Amino acid sequence: MFDVDDFIAECRTALASDPSHKLMREVVARAVSSPAAVLKGLGEPTRAEVQKLYHAKDLTILNVIWGPMMTVMPHNHQMWAVIGIYSGREDNIFWRRRVDDGGRIEAAGARELCVGDAEPLGHNIIHSVTNPIPRLTGAIHVYGGDFFGAERSEWDSESLTEGRFDAERAMRRFEEANATMRA
Ligand SMILES: [Fe+2]
Repeated sequence: MFDVDDFIAECRTALASDPSHKLMREVVARAVSSPAAVLKGLGEPTRAEVQKLYHAKDLTILNVIWGPMMTVMPHNHQMWAVIGIYSGREDNIFWRRRVDDGGRIEAAGARELCVGDAEPLGHNIIHSVTNPIPRLTGAIHVYGGDFFGAERSEWDSESLTEGRFDAERAMRRFEEANATMRA
């Protein structure tokens, strides 16, 4: 049985004894090791959306439902994160700043995430995310800070140049995915 309040309490306990993402990864890994229980606890995904499960200055917990074949542009978080997949798939491309070209980024690596995977992302990570399958993907995202309050960057998908993170545009991407899904 996955209980949201119990999970939040476990995350708070992990953070209290370890400010890094090490213990948090174990908490998230334990949760997504029973994906059917998480599906039951959070509910079967029905639409692309970001559900805020918990939000504090030092910890944010989200239930992120990616739309079919949905991609979000490269962005940073300015805090560590742990991503745990309980339904579907998520592909991450990792980027780094180019030393020769101020602000632009280049691809540095990739990681496929499948059901049951719990991936830690470092404080300075820049990533873009794709749901590569034609159905919804469900993931628990835990961030070691105030995900909505942090000053962050995103990089234009075409020019790969840096700009200020636009939260409203990011949320619109989920509604566009829903519109595509309905069409
Ligand atoms: Fe992200």
